[in-house]
Amino acid sequence: MACKLHNNMVMGDGLEIPAIGLGTGSMREENELATTLNNALEIGYRHIDTAFAYKNEAFIGRVLKKWFSSGKLKREDVFITTKLPVPGVHQSRVEMFMKKSLENLQLEYVDLYLIHFPIGTKYFGDESEDNLKEVDDFDHIEIWKKMEEQVDAGRTKAIGLSNFNQRQIEKIMKSARIKPTCLQIEIHVDFQQRDLINFCHKNGIVVVAYSPLGAPGRNLQNRKMAPVINSEKIGKLAKKYNKTPGQIMLRYLLQNNIVAVPKSSRLERLKENIDVFHFEISENDMKSLNELEGGKDARLSFRGLIPGIEKHPEYPFED
Ligand SMILES: NC(=O)c1ccc[n+]([C@@H]2O[C@H](COP(=O)([O-])OP(=O)(O)OC[C@H]3O[C@@H](n4cnc5c(N)ncnc54)[C@H](OP(=O)(O)O)[C@@H]3O)[C@@H](O)[C@H]2O)c1
Repeated sequence: MACKLHNNMVMGDGLEIPAIGLGTGSMREENELATTLNNALEIGYRHIDTAFAYKNEAFIGRVLKKWFSSGKLKREDVFITTKLPVPGVHQSRVEMFMKKSLENLQLEYVDLYLIHFPIGTKYFGDESEDNLKEVDDFDHIEIWKKMEEQVDAGRTKAIGLSNFNQRQIEKIMKSARIKPTCLQIEIHVDFQQRDLINFCHKNGIVVVAYSPLGAPGRNLQNRKMAPVINSEKIGKLAKKYNKTPGQIMLRYLLQNNIVAVPKSSRLERLKENIDVFHFEISENDMKSLNELEGGKDARLSFRGLIPGIEKHPEYPFED
């Protein structure tokens, strides 16, 4: 896997994924998302991260349709990831949700389809408020077979996982006909997930960092530590390299061979976040950034997603 000074990383099966993508997770308003996505595509983003759960696939689909039908971009120019939602994490619902995402996005295929989270809940229809309340019986091996069928059917080029731990990934890999090509997990400089990343890299699994800037603007109930982007160390390095704190954080990930999907709806930041390919953080400064590791307290995501979920045997984060 090479990424140092260019914008593409090679995935395990030879597919290429641009090393910086646009995160769209908290963009639920169509005008904001359309403006952001148009700006992002205009300035060179070619990787979009969405999910059925973000409820914005249809907005993205409408923007993409204009770009493709005007001939400004071809479908194969853009790498699009979407995710099987938690109520879809059941062997009987993978194909249905895959098709819903493709319909929303107005696409014949996505580049990468991820299982969003290792625990599935009962599904009562898309609009139901009960969808995230009750854990269902699910079987990762059977679900993975259904994911493989989506590749066979040409609905996705590659399949992968999000928020799975090493034990869960190993179990899937043992019986997989098509190995997971990607793991998307929370990573920021104070939450480094080194063991899991090393495991993935050894097994040819590309790692994508979500919340790569530590989600500084998001009002997260789970936040136990101050956003690391405001730390003195990051600030000093930003000055030293004549870059912004965000660029230091993203460059740190790239130099660790990690793809990142930062979210911003501001044009200046969109430009900043993708302009990280033409400088290099020195080995010593990389080591000093490693020291920012904050352990479990730095994790931001998924506590309390489903009532009682932390006690479920497949809860991924306490292994
Ligand atoms: N797989 C999963 O379970 C999962 C979970 C969470 C997120 N994700 C994905 O990861 C993406 C990114 O994660 P995230 O949105 O949680 O966090 P993030 O990208 O780390 O941070 C986004 C926040 O940082 C601000 N920001 C962006 N660029 C900046 C810069 N250069 N300097 C300072 N602040 C900056 C943004 O504000 P402005 O918009 O105002 O610039 C926004 O509030 C999501 O959009 C989603 O696609 C996946």
